[in-house]
Amino acid sequence: MTKSTKSVRGSGAKAARGNGSKPAGPNGTIPEDLKKYLADNDPRIHNELFEFLRIPSVSAKSDHNADTRRAAEWVKASLDKIGVPATIYPTAGHPVVVGEWRNAPRGAPTVLIYGHYDVQPAEPLDLWTSPPFEPTVRDKKIFARGSVDDKGQIFLHIKALEAHLATRGTLPVNVVVIVEGEEEIGSDHLEAFVKEQKKLLAADAVVISDSSMFAPGLPSILSSLRGLAYFEINVQGPKSDLHSGIYGGAIVNPAMALARILATFHDKDGHVAIPGFYKKVKTWDPKIRKQMRSLPFDDKTLMKETGVDALGGEKGYTTLEKLWIRPTCEVNGELSGWTGEGAKTVLPAKAMAKVSCRLVPDQDPADIEKLMKAHVAKVAPKGVKATVTALHGGRPWRAELNGPIYDAARSALRAAFGKEPVITGEGGSIPVVGDFERILGAPVLLVGFGLPGENAHAPDEWMSDENFRVGMLAMATLWDLYGATRKS
Ligand code: BES
Ligand code: MN
Ligand code: MN
Repeated sequence: MTKSTKSVRGSGAKAARGNGSKPAGPNGTIPEDLKKYLADNDPRIHNELFEFLRIPSVSAKSDHNADTRRAAEWVKASLDKIGVPATIYPTAGHPVVVGEWRNAPRGAPTVLIYGHYDVQPAEPLDLWTSPPFEPTVRDKKIFARGSVDDKGQIFLHIKALEAHLATRGTLPVNVVVIVEGEEEIGSDHLEAFVKEQKKLLAADAVVISDSSMFAPGLPSILSSLRGLAYFEINVQGPKSDLHSGIYGGAIVNPAMALARILATFHDKDGHVAIPGFYKKVKTWDPKIRKQMRSLPFDDKTLMKETGVDALGGEKGYTTLEKLWIRPTCEVNGELSGWTGEGAKTVLPAKAMAKVSCRLVPDQDPADIEKLMKAHVAKVAPKGVKATVTALHGGRPWRAELNGPIYDAARSALRAAFGKEPVITGEGGSIPVVGDFERILGAPVLLVGFGLPGENAHAPDEWMSDENFRVGMLAMATLWDLYGATRKS
């Protein structure tokens, strides 16, 4: 977690040229009418975004359930207002909002636009420069919890649609917009929803902005996301805390037992040592690996950005490969024994760790759960009882990047940013992406407008105001270009 806003990446990209009026690129230009509309309405659009950002829709905290509900209603109203009538669908958790507009010319493709209205908890509050739910612009950055993850990014899509509908009374593509409220807690109810609503959500392409560009001014198309298998490990020793002098030495210490268990998760070269862990890992296309190696990236900048004096991880891979295309097992938290002021000589009765594995194709969270449980059962010392509970999981995803939606996206990004987009990977997870592809059979385009150092999930989260504007323009342009592929 860092408050630095400097780019992690090298200096390979200049600032975005943005909404230049010259045609940019051979097969894509920014439509002037949409550009003018977005510029003329810019202050109102910002006011609306700020309204959205003021709603503390923290999905993880039940005392925010009313706010989370209010955010869903806000999204529905904003879709209704632009002429994309929306419905709020209840789930066993937070509701899903779906808007539909299907009046494109005959033969036009249908796109499904996905985003999430829920946000991460804002704590620790004292590390925010301005309050998390009071959006503030400083240094051309919009600071607020959810600004970049993901309210700003889903909202720019809504405004790109509005630009079309308001200026032309129509859209070149049919559109379904789905905005969920449980992404930050694992999208537990969304897979079932997508299955149930397969017909409603059917599309020729899925488009998602919930990720980042590689560097300022450098538009990026994501080729992969890692999946996730999240566990809680509990180690129970004696039936209560014990005097460590009276019992220590003969009774197995649960904190130490947990440390031993966790220490077996990696070998000395940083490979995950849970038997079978790599069994389903697919090899990576050498072309993609070559592209990744050509990106302007520097280990030193990452070390400086994060405040460490050396990098670690798996031997034999570059840093970007470690972050994007290799699976991991990380400890997210540990709890045991005396952690208050001063000393207390106690042998704790129990210990707990939160552990999560980031997965790559074709690892499956359910398989990893089995492997993890078997491994912990095997290595847990006698004298304690270790249990593993799976908290949530999401599948990894990798795109082929061939087809009309990707071609149109490359042209639209080139036109809006004045630069050829790069192909990147990503270490984070968006659980529903693999589900969309599998259940709907549609290609997924991940085109994000965040930036390195944006502090997602951390204090002082921000979204670049420039990217918010150019993002609207790029997506408005995308619909023209993708619509032009229609079968007449
Ligand atoms: N938008 C992020 C995922 C992401 C992060 C994509 C960085 C690309 C770059 C998403 O909101 C997120 O935080 N996902 C969680 C998933 C989890 C809570 C199931 C994650 O990756 O930890
Ligand atoms: Mn997100
Ligand atoms: Mn997130």
